[in-house]
Amino acid sequence: MTAGVERPGRLPRVLLTGAGGGIGRCLHQAFAGRYPLLRLADRVPVAPRHATDEVVTGDLLDPAVATAAVQGIDCVVHLAGIPKEGGWEQILPDNIVATLGLFEAARAAGVRRYVFASSNHAIGFHEATRELGIEEPVRPDSRYGVSKVFGEALCRMFTDKYAVDACCLRIGSFRERPEDARQLSTWIGHRDMAELVRCAIEAPAYGFAIVYGVSANRRTKWHSPDAARIGYVPVQDAEQWAAELEQATLGAPGSPAVRFHGGSYCAAEYVPIEGGPTR
Ligand SMILES: NC(=O)c1ccc[n+]([C@@H]2O[C@H](COP(=O)([O-])OP(=O)(O)OC[C@H]3O[C@@H](n4cnc5c(N)ncnc54)[C@H](O)[C@@H]3O)[C@@H](O)[C@H]2O)c1
Repeated sequence: MTAGVERPGRLPRVLLTGAGGGIGRCLHQAFAGRYPLLRLADRVPVAPRHATDEVVTGDLLDPAVATAAVQGIDCVVHLAGIPKEGGWEQILPDNIVATLGLFEAARAAGVRRYVFASSNHAIGFHEATRELGIEEPVRPDSRYGVSKVFGEALCRMFTDKYAVDACCLRIGSFRERPEDARQLSTWIGHRDMAELVRCAIEAPAYGFAIVYGVSANRRTKWHSPDAARIGYVPVQDAEQWAAELEQATLGAPGSPAVRFHGGSYCAAEYVPIEGGPTR
């Protein structure tokens, strides 16, 4: 069996989970009318924009909701979840259990492509002076980051075992415009976000891929050899805000929010090692 979407030459039927959220609304706007079916799933109500939109409202933790969401779908784009650090009582159900339930329901329904909204916080505890590709070990900076590592591992297993395509998007900072000095390297604008997901949905068979969700920022420290495999070419660049934001740092030089890639996620709950080994 080869990896890939089942309907070569035709655009896939797409499920967008978390469609009512910030990234979901951006993608809904960009994709309305593009695919033969765009199913929008969220536990908050989402208003359809186009005749090819379908809405599934409910909690993806409910197996009946997950099963209804994936029926007849070629490509799942999974955005739903808690998009920031939280307690395990939030992160475990919404980011781990719901992802597992959705992906297994999708597999049972024969879905052949999975696009997963991962995060830079999967690698947050690498030193910020180090440029990163996708070969370095994961180094999550939070419970949230751990949940994204879980999703990436699930995707990897799905490709290796079930011969489906899976693309993990390590999204940086999705904003209208960058808001601090860190985001001069981590920002992804709306145009590039929609283009990144469109590429992950429509590219020819790619097996497993990890792509950083960042714009073409001159200062980026994250490099994505897999971007070329899915055809992602970002065009936005945070540099136009550099003069305004360069001084807007997250802390003093050497402080955890500046020292590590994950910024303030690393600083939260951080216990320094007095005179001990560096992390
Ligand atoms: N925004 C960013 O900068 C950024 C950066 C890295 C990763 N991400 C990831 O991208 C995804 C989308 O982020 P966002 O900023 O749009 O977040 P958001 O909070 O705006 O949207 C998430 C949506 O998921 C829905 N949801 C959560 N749990 C659900 C469940 N159990 N069942 C059904 N719906 C559920 C929420 O109702 C919400 O509408 C998240 O997975 C997030 O971790 C975002």
